[in-house]
Amino acid sequence: MLIAQVTDPHIKAEGRLAYRTVDTAANLARCVNHLLGLKRRPDCVLMTGDLTDFGRVEEYRLLRRLLAPLDVPTYVVPGNHDEREGFRRAFSDHGYLPREGDIRYAIDDYPLRMIALDTTVPGEPGGIMSDERLEWLDAKLRERPDTPTLLFMHHPPIVTGIEHMDVQNCANASAFGDLLERHRQVFQILCGHVHRPIQTLWRGVSVAIAPSASHYVALDLDPNPRREFYLEPPSVYLHYWNEGSLVTHLSFVGSFEGPYPFFDEQGNLID
Ligand SMILES: [Fe+2]
Repeated sequence: MLIAQVTDPHIKAEGRLAYRTVDTAANLARCVNHLLGLKRRPDCVLMTGDLTDFGRVEEYRLLRRLLAPLDVPTYVVPGNHDEREGFRRAFSDHGYLPREGDIRYAIDDYPLRMIALDTTVPGEPGGIMSDERLEWLDAKLRERPDTPTLLFMHHPPIVTGIEHMDVQNCANASAFGDLLERHRQVFQILCGHVHRPIQTLWRGVSVAIAPSASHYVALDLDPNPRREFYLEPPSVYLHYWNEGSLVTHLSFVGSFEGPYPFFDEQGNLID
């Protein structure tokens, strides 16, 4: 099973640039083409929030147009830049989405169980796994304790060292971690929000933050970082599930020199 993860595309209204600089629509269009051009097609795509920049109707309209060529099952959760009800209306044809309340659900159609969590707090940049959200997750995890399960959500529960992002990560993480220690079938959490590829082990669970399909938060580990971004290559994660392990590949979106052969026409290693 191959899962593509696309996060934080921050789509603006037609013709507008994010922060007056980034052509996020062009980046997402290239990203969709990249996925469609992979020799091994993903079985599904997970989109982990900030699908639009300001949660506006016209932004969702363009987002859906950009995603239209993607003929692969796609599962979405909102981020802090989204607006929950506009998001729900924009994806009203996605039958797995709940009609009201948090945008959270379990996908049970694959060998790996995938549970989407809504961490957003309307009007706030940071997220939370509130006690109510933890109760919902606890009940979901009790349903299938023996099925390997990954969680996908926007705000990461971990500290990355990028201070201005850490202050807006997922609150109540300690109680969230306690819950996961009682449900050992959860082995992986996939997040967005930080706009950088970051991985760690947290409370016995692997956490992977995917890089943005568009712009990157500056890698600044200074205690007083400047809040800036770079145009590093837009990227996606490709998570390969095979015989009980999930291997995460970083895949850059763009055209690069190559490919070049390792071997000559006679089959000898090129010296
Ligand atoms: Fe974002």
